[in-house]
Amino acid sequence: MTLVNLAAILRRSETGGWAVGAFNCNNLEIVQAIIRAAEAESAPVVVQASQGAIKYAELNFIAALALEAARSARVPVAVHLDHGTSFAQVVRCVRAGFSSVMIDGSHLPLEENIALTRRVVELARPVGVSVEAELGRIGGTEDNITVDEREAFFTDPDEAAHFVEFTGVDALAVAIGTAHGLYRGTPRLDFDRLQRIRARVKTPLVLHGSSGVPADAIREAIARGVCKVNIDTDIRQAFTGKMREVLAQAPGEIDPRKVLGPAREAAVEVIREKIRLFGGSGRAPEI
Ligand code: G3H
Ligand code: ZN
Repeated sequence: MTLVNLAAILRRSETGGWAVGAFNCNNLEIVQAIIRAAEAESAPVVVQASQGAIKYAELNFIAALALEAARSARVPVAVHLDHGTSFAQVVRCVRAGFSSVMIDGSHLPLEENIALTRRVVELARPVGVSVEAELGRIGGTEDNITVDEREAFFTDPDEAAHFVEFTGVDALAVAIGTAHGLYRGTPRLDFDRLQRIRARVKTPLVLHGSSGVPADAIREAIARGVCKVNIDTDIRQAFTGKMREVLAQAPGEIDPRKVLGPAREAAVEVIREKIRLFGGSGRAPEI
């Protein structure tokens, strides 16, 4: 179908009890895998570029890839900046044609996070670009912090209500026990906290660090108000796992297409599974 903003997708998912899959891309093959999976499932989808992706591929290249994929896709696609670091970066992404941005001020004191996010909303909304923000801190497993310490970074329901009221964001990423990257054990999500946030905040909620989270926990998070689920690590694992497998079977292979093609197919499969898990299949015509 076409490029849409995140709010257009969330308007449907928040009332329908499903979540849109938001998948990180780094290169042509992963962009294509996301679109092919979404088309195969007739699902709306978010193609997102992280700081690492922008550093690796450069903003102009990743924007060109994702925007071309969105415009020629047979499903609605939002092109989104993941964990945006500054107002200036948001401006660059809006100019590049992104339909959605995340501004991550979660490391700032509450009022500074609100002020930065508000400024981004004031820039983005008039030009139809959606805004996601983060409150509480979603750690990475490499941070090597204890559960008790992590608890201190979980999203506070009262602060969340205050935050959305003063920023007017389209989506809010919450910290309820997930973390970016590989988990050492099984993640335990704080569903009671999610419920209390939901009771105070009508804005669609976003789950980050969702790779490796058991399917039941994902379903429960969606049932309790999560409308966008971010996946990166699971795609990387499928992609590089298949590359390793192909090269192990054919150590003399020198054609990158013979390695990257099967890796792209492996990524399609994992993304399709996620879309089905999130309840996004068949939702494209609703947008
Ligand atoms: O913003 C990106 C996501 O939160 C990805 O997290 O690598 O754990 O799937 P993940
Ligand atoms: Zn994230």
